[in-house]
Amino acid sequence: MTYLETTAQFYAEAAETPQVGLCCVSTPPPRLPGLKIPTIMQEMNYGCGSTVHPTELFGSPTVLYIGVGGGIEALQFAYFCRQPGGVIAVDPVPEMRQAATRNLQLATQDNDWFDPAFVKVLAGDAFALPVPDASVDVVAQNCLFNIFEPDDLKRALLEAYRVLKPGGRLIMSDPIATRPIPLHLQQDERLRALCLSGALTYDAYIQHLIEIGFGQIEIRARRPYRLLDAHSYNLDTPLLLESLDSVSFKAPIPEDGACVFTGKTAIYSGVEPQLDDRAGHLLQRGNPLAVCDKTAAKLALQFPQDVIVTDSTWHYNGGGCC
Ligand SMILES: C[S@@+](CC[C@H](N)C(=O)[O-])C[C@H]1O[C@@H](n2cnc3c(N)ncnc32)[C@H](O)[C@@H]1O
Repeated sequence: MTYLETTAQFYAEAAETPQVGLCCVSTPPPRLPGLKIPTIMQEMNYGCGSTVHPTELFGSPTVLYIGVGGGIEALQFAYFCRQPGGVIAVDPVPEMRQAATRNLQLATQDNDWFDPAFVKVLAGDAFALPVPDASVDVVAQNCLFNIFEPDDLKRALLEAYRVLKPGGRLIMSDPIATRPIPLHLQQDERLRALCLSGALTYDAYIQHLIEIGFGQIEIRARRPYRLLDAHSYNLDTPLLLESLDSVSFKAPIPEDGACVFTGKTAIYSGVEPQLDDRAGHLLQRGNPLAVCDKTAAKLALQFPQDVIVTDSTWHYNGGGCC
């Protein structure tokens, strides 16, 4: 069996015998007016973090969701899309598709706004998405791509890029590792399927996105996810995994490199009312301007006396330069 087949088998079992907390950061699902998530869907929350960011979902976008699980995020996306076929949810595991379909049907009982036709559950996988080129506004995946080995991750990211419209968004939530995961854990297929040993470091994760061609990447959240303790995982020292929520835009990469927003700001502290860096950034004295990491580094280098750059908050929500 390949590790992808092991993963599919693992999730077939997880569909038939739900395992609470199998793979997630213990945060309650978002509370939204009129949205009631069935208990079984909550029990089958196999994601970490969230890919459902209301600010991303204006104008009834078409969402392609990869790896439907119990359907919790498909339902949350449908809350915003509210149109037949507005959410296309893909999963290669028949047991998971059946569970999601059943759970979505159940959701109609307590959500009078919801029509199961809002979510189309389809067979397919991350490497061959059943939609045409440039046809969807949003692609989302939660806790799936981290399972993939690097070459497969590239294939999955390229496929997501293919189906996105220009300007479209790839919204992801995945574990990342605070240092490279040792080989003996990476090769453990069950731990990989459990989202515990395939995670890349932050830098490697972002680099994969840039290599595919995403010109703008925004970090929405970064928080502790799991600790791999030294004893259970045969490590010299414990290894902290974090979960990373990100949004990557299918926008051209600027000549001087991709813009990655991690919540840094630049603040002009000189004597003039404002500072113009002649590269598109106007800093009003004393007012923080959200900047991407590339611009933050340039400003700090160019104006070491007059510009203060604040640390990444890992919670960037729009605004600022670019
Ligand atoms: C960790 S679970 C996450 C489920 C869901 N995203 C959530 O947040 O609850 C991974 C999901 O991806 C599905 N999956 C496994 N291999 C896949 C593949 N190659 N392509 C797409 N989905 C896959 C599994 O069946 C499962 O539903």
